Amino acid sequence: MREALLWRGWACGGEWNMSIFKRLKADHELQRRLAERIMQTSGDSPDRRDAFATLKREIEAHASAEEQSLYATMMALPAGQPKARHSTAEHKEAADILEELTQLEMSSGAWLRRFEHLKQRLEHHLDEEEREIFPAANKLLSSSDVTDLAVIFDERKALKLKD
Ligand SMILES: [Fe+2]
Ligand SMILES: [Fe+2]
Repeated sequence: MREALLWRGWACGGEWNMSIFKRLKADHELQRRLAERIMQTSGDSPDRRDAFATLKREIEAHASAEEQSLYATMMALPAGQPKARHSTAEHKEAADILEELTQLEMSSGAWLRRFEHLKQRLEHHLDEEEREIFPAANKLLSSSDVTDLAVIFDERKALKLKD
C-alpha cells in the first residue's frame, strides 16, 4: 500500500515526500492569483468569464479534495475535529457565494461587490489554514500521513476536475 502510494506520488507530483501542506499552499497561491486577475477585468468580458470559471473550478476541486484527505484524517482525531469542522463550514460559505455569483449579471455592480466579498472571505480562509490550521495539523499527523495525504489529495482533486 505504502509502496503503491509512493509510486503514484512519483507519477503525480514528480517529487518524493511532497508534504500535503506544501501541496495545498501551491493551490492557495493559484487561487490568490486568479482572484487578483478577476479584479483586473471589467464587465461581462471573455477575460472575466474565463478567469471566474477557472477560479470556481479550482476552489471547488481544492475544497472537495482537501476535505477528503486532510480534513477526513483530522476529523478522525478528537483534537482535530474543531478545526476540520470550522474549515469545512468556510468551504460551504464559499460554495454558496460562488453559486450566487453564477446567478448575478456579470456586468453589474452587484456582481463585483459580491465578488469582492468572496475574495475577502477566500483570503481569510487561505491565510487561516496556512497560519493556524496546517501548523496544528502538522502536530497531530505522523510524517507518513503528511506525505500520503498529498498523494490522496492529488488523486481526489483530479477526479473532481473530471466531473
Ligand atoms: Fe486549502
Ligand atoms: Fe480550505
